[in-house]
Amino acid sequence: MRNRRAALAAIAGAASLALTLTACGQSGEGGSEAATDSAKGGTIGIAMPTKSSERWITDGANVEKDLKAKGYKTKLVFGEDDPDQQVSQIENLITQGVKALIVAAIDNKSLNNVLQQAADAKIPVISYDRLILGTKNVDYYASFDNEKVGQLQAGYLVEKLGLASGKGPFNIELFAGSNDDNNTKYFFNGAMSVLQPYIDSKKLVVKSGQTALTKVTTLRWDGATAQKRMEDILTSTYTSGRVDAVLSPYDGISIGILAALKSDGYGAKNKPLPVISGQDAELASVKSIIAGEQSMTVYKDLRKLAQVATDMVDASLNGKKPEINDTKSYDNGTKVVPAFLLQPVSVDKSNYEKELVQGGYYTADQLK
Ligand code: GAL
Repeated sequence: MRNRRAALAAIAGAASLALTLTACGQSGEGGSEAATDSAKGGTIGIAMPTKSSERWITDGANVEKDLKAKGYKTKLVFGEDDPDQQVSQIENLITQGVKALIVAAIDNKSLNNVLQQAADAKIPVISYDRLILGTKNVDYYASFDNEKVGQLQAGYLVEKLGLASGKGPFNIELFAGSNDDNNTKYFFNGAMSVLQPYIDSKKLVVKSGQTALTKVTTLRWDGATAQKRMEDILTSTYTSGRVDAVLSPYDGISIGILAALKSDGYGAKNKPLPVISGQDAELASVKSIIAGEQSMTVYKDLRKLAQVATDMVDASLNGKKPEINDTKSYDNGTKVVPAFLLQPVSVDKSNYEKELVQGGYYTADQLK
């Protein structure tokens, strides 16, 4: 109902805008020039997946700020992790006459029809952080080296356990992201490329036996879902022995896993918490790292990501080619999407001040 009303309001808005433009044209004040100007400084639609994780709120704010600095107006929507809601939000943005779209998909395969509508309206589409699959109607992809993210997470676990210097065997449990997010398999495969040799040599033991990606995903990256799975694993598998390491793909998931571990007595003197990874340098997790609970996070500078995505919009709307640095890694099933991939950084207690505070990502006060 809310959506329908919004759509009707949008149509009414578009109609009155059209009338205004026609009136401009009739006044003889250079109608075609006015139209070009409005293409340059028009409104850009931004569709983010959810407000339930801090990072996407930051992404939305950064993208809006950069677009405004480039002279555009913005319309920012969040899809509450509901793929249908995201589709109707994007439909509304198209109806409202946005000039370009920046989309971080909830379900990477659900946007086919709505992006055809965007293409029909000649609206360029930038896939933001998560690749949209199965459609030719995605122009560019702005993200990080996602396989590297997984390698950094697993590399950290290997290093802290001392596996390379022959220590072990250790017990590890594996968690992955949402199965409808294209990044999930990149993170997981990157991590497994590092962990698999130690699993093969039995220096790492996945005691639950849950190693296949299909067994370890976490729908919509939900921390509570991960917490429940960790609780179940602790009850079913660790009546003896302990968890030494946990591969976690994302900070919100790490927080859930840590809650399960702590209620099982981990974190006490005689039962230290396992080494556990994360991603996104979310505030709660950086604080957890400082407190000695979460071990590390993969920091992805969202300011740079917003810059890349908004440069792609600006170039596309001005008939220029945006800067890209990857033309082969991201095949969406229909085309290889030209991408700009930024570099992720491993952050723990030893370097958070340099990377996050001196780097201006957080103030020292925020981390208190
Ligand atoms: C992924 C993203 C990660 C993390 C996760 C959960 O697509 O690349 O950085 O934010 O979603 O939100």
